[in-house]
Amino acid sequence: MGRLPVLFLLVLWGGTLEAEPEAFLARHWQRPLAANGPAPGHFSPAESSLDPAACGSCHLRQFEDWRTSLHSRAMGPGLMGQLQAMGAGAREEHQACLHCHAPLAEQADHLVRTLTAKATLPPGTEAVSAAQGLTCAGCHVRGQVRLGPPRADGSVPEPGRVLPHAGWQVEKAFADARFCAACHQFEPDWPSLNGKPLENTNAEWQASRHAAEGRTCQSCHMPGRRHLWRGIHDPEMTRSALTIDTPPSSTAGGRVRAELSLANTGAGHAFPTYVTPRVQVEIGQEDREGRPIGSSVERHLIARDVTLDLTAERADTRLMPGERRRYGYDRPLDPRAQGLVFRVIVQPDAFYADFYRATLARSPSPLLQEALRQAESSPYELFSARQPLRRPGPWDGP
Ligand code: HEC
Ligand code: HEC
Ligand code: HEC
Ligand code: HEC
Ligand code: HEC
Repeated sequence: MGRLPVLFLLVLWGGTLEAEPEAFLARHWQRPLAANGPAPGHFSPAESSLDPAACGSCHLRQFEDWRTSLHSRAMGPGLMGQLQAMGAGAREEHQACLHCHAPLAEQADHLVRTLTAKATLPPGTEAVSAAQGLTCAGCHVRGQVRLGPPRADGSVPEPGRVLPHAGWQVEKAFADARFCAACHQFEPDWPSLNGKPLENTNAEWQASRHAAEGRTCQSCHMPGRRHLWRGIHDPEMTRSALTIDTPPSSTAGGRVRAELSLANTGAGHAFPTYVTPRVQVEIGQEDREGRPIGSSVERHLIARDVTLDLTAERADTRLMPGERRRYGYDRPLDPRAQGLVFRVIVQPDAFYADFYRATLARSPSPLLQEALRQAESSPYELFSARQPLRRPGPWDGP
């Protein structure tokens, strides 16, 4: 999230730990993580490596999925630009971001080496690079032990069978929403605005019917255990969040009356959950050539709209799970109008685009320039519909 005060981000996982997955998760997501240390001597080079490509040589499906996910791109130019600004050797300060973006101790070391240009390493010590973001090992390896969920079919390996990397430690917590909360939910004492933590996904989910009905983050974001984690950057996933209706409009009395309604029927948290995306709803008349008639276009924002310095929330118009919103339209029928157009536009990185523009205005940075280019290229049209506007003719009577 943005560039947040380091002070807050260094706070460790707090709260009381009762249930067994919580105790496991508190250890698993300890901050900062301890180094894995050397792999057992009998591991082959592929088994010992923390490089996702090595895991992928046996777990091809997960690797192919992960590569397309944002977890694998969690160390993009926006991050690198800000880490660089903290100072090349500032390992402790980097942790404020690496905790979530590239959590392995080996990655923190690698980042310092890369930024200080001491990139040549003794052979065999190059475990995993910081640039790989949230890797397989970041979620699945601690102290060189591989951890994972029970087998999908519920069976257990035959006793005495020797598996690669000495098998794995079975942890039910991998199927628990709290596994994701480690990075997708701020603690109560982290930055919050209007009484809501800046990242509040897990709490929004807990208050929804999805939690009550046993639909976890994994059910929607890892269906069939796929490692895709599609979210607001993916049009298809985002369409699945909403039910959109545009009942027929009317043009009685020289006015156009219409409605667009949206319901959050498919996201397990607020739509959208973060302060970073902006969703724009537009209803307006267009002329014969399909050009919008400026004065007739109405726009509504669906977002948790915060200031760039993250000190104030201007508005929170997000749709909570199950919530429906109706945007009415009632305006004079423009003499040029031929149609009424409804559009929903998603800008997944709107906050970051503004943030990079503001930062670049103060000091140039090729990395942030590239980050801005990426942030500006992510918007897409989620929905559009057109209704012809029937103009009353002489045959319609008075
Ligand atoms: C040499 C091949 C090989 C390599 C390399 C390898 N694995 Fe495995 N892994 C296996 C096999 C085989 C199993 C056992 C599958 C079974 O019996 O259900 C397994 C099991 C697992 C499981 C448990 C699967 C489940 O059903 O819950 C996880 C998690 C896992 N590996 C993660 C990793 C990670 C992360 C890496 C890289 C750091 C890695 N593996 C590298 C072959 C490999
Ligand atoms: C170690 C921290 C960490 C954990 C654990 C984690 N994530 Fe993420 N996740 C991130 C970061 C960081 C990003 C943003 C990557 C980027 O764009 O730079 C992200 C991105 C995502 C996105 C894409 C959002 C978008 O904007 O489209 C989804 C969906 C997601 N995570 C779901 C999950 C789920 C589900 C789990 C639990 C199985 C999980 N994450 C566990 C850190 C984490
Ligand atoms: C508690 C976990 C967490 C911490 C700590 C964290 N982030 Fe993030 N960050 C996320 C998640 C989750 C996303 C994706 C959701 C979003 O876009 O808001 C993200 C997205 C981003 C993005 C946009 C995606 C991209 O890769 O360009 C940037 C930039 C970013 N964070 C910078 C930082 C910086 C800089 C720090 C350290 C000061 C930091 N983050 C600390 C969780 C975290
Ligand atoms: C954000 C954390 C995260 C990352 C990164 C991640 N995994 Fe997983 N992985 C999980 C979770 C959570 C599950 C269990 C999902 C469930 O139970 O629904 C899982 C399940 C698995 C399984 C069992 C799959 C099955 O079908 O039974 C394997 C094998 C595995 N992961 C390997 C990998 C490999 C290899 C990579 C890297 C290419 C990787 N994981 C990256 C969180 C992660
Ligand atoms: C009922 C299905 C469902 C559940 C449960 C669910 N999500 Fe989502 N999630 C979605 C859909 C659909 C989207 C795309 C629309 C959106 O962004 O809200 C999404 C978007 C996201 C995003 C993109 C960022 C943004 O601003 O919206 C993140 C991150 C995310 N989910 C994380 C999680 C985490 C963590 C959990 C568990 C606490 C979770 N989700 C539970 C369906 C679900």
